[in-house]
Amino acid sequence: METAKLLRARRAIRTYTGQITPEQLTTLLAAGNAAPVGMGNYGDYRLVAIQDPDLLHQLSGNYDAPTEIIVAVHQPGRMEVLSAGVIVHNMVLCAEDLGLGANYNMASLPSLPAGVLPPGFEAVFGLTVGQTTATFTPREIPADRIPTTIIK
Ligand SMILES: Cc1cc2nc3c(=O)[nH]c(=O)nc-3n(C[C@H](O)[C@H](O)[C@H](O)COP(=O)(O)O)c2cc1C
Repeated sequence: METAKLLRARRAIRTYTGQITPEQLTTLLAAGNAAPVGMGNYGDYRLVAIQDPDLLHQLSGNYDAPTEIIVAVHQPGRMEVLSAGVIVHNMVLCAEDLGLGANYNMASLPSLPAGVLPPGFEAVFGLTVGQTTATFTPREIPADRIPTTIIK
């Protein structure tokens, strides 16, 4: 989809109709890896893709997504948290382009059991994703939805 339309058509999808394919997971992870991070310190980040049903059932607030991808960060500060947002946003837009349903997720992070993430890493942001019957149609979004000041 053309980028401007893709941006206006994106919306949070919280109902999933099936698991994504291994190829789709690979494509989503590649989109995450294509994201910029502050100072280019990619070693401070980890992506953990959870598809184990038993583990997913232990998570609250993830809308029974068949896949959740966690962005974990070593010693997260403001820059790392922002970078995690960029990583997830890349994957959300990629999911939409693949016709998948996806959403940002913070709610499930506190319920992540100990031992899932690599030692020394903290869950900062997540992405829930799955197949969907939803369609993506560009929306009319008010130009001032976020109040804006232009200083000339
Ligand atoms: C930083 C951030 C955290 C979010 N966390 C959650 C979450 O935990 N659960 C959820 O259902 N949606 C979450 N969302 C999705 C927002 O609620 C949603 O994007 C917003 O309401 C706008 O709706 P739209 O995406 O359909 O345009 C999050 C979005 C962002 C940017």
